[in-house]
Amino acid sequence: MLTRPMHLTETDGTPMPARTPEHLAFAEDLAQAFKLRPRAISPKYFYDAEGSKLFEKICELPEYYPTRTERGILLAHRVAMAAEIGADAEIVEFGAGSCEKVRLLLDVLERPHRYRPVDISAEHLACAVDGLRKDYPGLDVQPLAADYTQRLVLPAAEPGVRRVGFFPGSTLGNFTPAQALQFLRRAGQALRGGGLLLGVDLVKDPQVLHAAYNDSQGVTAAFNLNLLARANRELGCGFALDAFAHSAFYNAPLQRIEMHLVSRCRQNIALDGQGHLMDEGETLHTENSHKFTIDGLRALALQAGLQPGPVWVDEQRWFSVHWLRAPD
Ligand code: TRP
Repeated sequence: MLTRPMHLTETDGTPMPARTPEHLAFAEDLAQAFKLRPRAISPKYFYDAEGSKLFEKICELPEYYPTRTERGILLAHRVAMAAEIGADAEIVEFGAGSCEKVRLLLDVLERPHRYRPVDISAEHLACAVDGLRKDYPGLDVQPLAADYTQRLVLPAAEPGVRRVGFFPGSTLGNFTPAQALQFLRRAGQALRGGGLLLGVDLVKDPQVLHAAYNDSQGVTAAFNLNLLARANRELGCGFALDAFAHSAFYNAPLQRIEMHLVSRCRQNIALDGQGHLMDEGETLHTENSHKFTIDGLRALALQAGLQPGPVWVDEQRWFSVHWLRAPD
């Protein structure tokens, strides 16, 4: 794990590179996170280049069923999905990452007009787009490095082009219920006349859920801790990574996996000249992964002004992919 030892930032006087607006926002949100009770930070900060790489490793873990299961659903039902999407569509993918899943759709879509992957990690996106352009030479690929949790600004759609959103991976579950509703509302507006193909994880046996977020190789732990490692790299913070432990558990009443970083000792955390005391056992809440029921998701979509269409699931009913029609 990359880490900057405390004495380096505190005593050797090496100046950190000038802070970009992104660094400033991260520093501010981090300081804010340690003032909140309970302490909590937005999961979007997981995804720098290192975090995106670790996340791809998570997707390949034997315990992490969502990626594999969703892929299976897409493979089995993509022709029916393509029929809903229609010909000459522009596909906008939110949180596209490595742009792998969309290939399953692109291979069966009728004359896909354009692919617009949106991701917060510019570096990661650029890499993925190169490979895609090589493999789909006729496709217009227009990547957008943006934080889609803030706003959804897309260029005006051309006449005759149906815009369709693709939001796989149960990323919707990483929002709070209020944020999820807001995202679906905005997506509905941005995708007027088209629709949204949405993949969400389903409520199931807590043991299966627990294993998925507590893998035996410790990749999920490394991913969680990367938040602090990133703060050390980018902001010159002095987090001692071994002073924190990964914790993930299913909160059944709230239908969500919660991920936390637990302080392993009483420690003082210095952020931009201000000290924050953290007791042994106290946590920084880093992520939620909400699980849905099919009916619950459809009700949420309706509330957001989307019209629920067909739903596809795997045999075990572990994961679901929904076609939601946007308003005209
Ligand atoms: N959205 C997926 C999920 O909630 C992927 C994901 C986001 C994830 N953050 C994660 C997976 C942290 C493992 C750990 O499962």
